[in-house]
Amino acid sequence: MENNEFLYDLKTPETTWNGSGNSYFPNGEIASVAGRITDPEGPRCLYWCLDTIMYKNPPETDFNKTQMTHYHLRGYETFFVDSGSLYLYINGQRALAKKGDIIQLQPGQAHGMAFLEDVKWRGTYHDFETYPEAVDVGRVKAYMPELADDPALNGLMPRGFMDHIDMEPFLFQDVAPEQCQAIKNIARPHASYDFPGVSMKIVVERWENGGAKELACAVMEPGFTARWVKYPPLRELLYVRSGKVKFNILGKEFVADDECVVNVPRFAPHSIEALERSEVYDLGGQSWWSLFFQNYTSIRTYDPKRLTPETIQRLKDQFHIQIESIAIK
Ligand SMILES: [Fe+2]
Repeated sequence: MENNEFLYDLKTPETTWNGSGNSYFPNGEIASVAGRITDPEGPRCLYWCLDTIMYKNPPETDFNKTQMTHYHLRGYETFFVDSGSLYLYINGQRALAKKGDIIQLQPGQAHGMAFLEDVKWRGTYHDFETYPEAVDVGRVKAYMPELADDPALNGLMPRGFMDHIDMEPFLFQDVAPEQCQAIKNIARPHASYDFPGVSMKIVVERWENGGAKELACAVMEPGFTARWVKYPPLRELLYVRSGKVKFNILGKEFVADDECVVNVPRFAPHSIEALERSEVYDLGGQSWWSLFFQNYTSIRTYDPKRLTPETIQRLKDQFHIQIESIAIK
């Protein structure tokens, strides 16, 4: 396929990943391979996306003891579980997470994971103190693999990529995934707002992300179309987790299907059309969808006369909603 700077197809990591790094199990086997998709931007390190394969834990793993136990001082993590299953250990609980779930982790939460199968683990991160040295060291290794084990080179990245502090395994109780606050799923959103051709699910609220962003998912029916304002001021990072969506960005038309991340730069005129039933997540999370819909439905319920185009425009401006119009083809 022709090179497309807006599209990252996670089904073809060999052409999509822009560098990668490994982690290891205590026995020395490779535990994970993380591929770089998009880099952090701005003071809260938004729009950072990594695509990781987490490998099944080795047979000697004691799943009754928390694995990979750690916490973060400031960083938040959101993981899409896109294959397999794992135990999530968090806040004194253990719960099983499976393909389709989303795991939301906040700073100060002791957490760990143990993988029952290989898991496609797509993450977005924010508020992490980042270490650009890791990218620079990785570049040296990519060009000169013979230096990969050079202690002098590895010594230049003493803390690795992120704010990650190991801790002792903690005690836990088993709970169902629905009882575990960190395991999200669009089948049980915080709220769902239904319109012809589209349903907006609020999956992670802004207050669960230190105010930095939220996670909403648009479930679109075939033929649903949306057009953005002409020069949208906010960059968007969209994840087509399932389905098939035709994008037009800056006049360039292409189809993104399941497991595709689409990067929409700010000011870029764009529109979409769902070709199949599709789930599209707003990874950038800069539109205040949750409060926008709370206000919208409140006015529609209590004072419908006020729900004029002017009122809707005022709400869109207040909550940074960049959609100009929606329709069904
Ligand atoms: Fe973590």
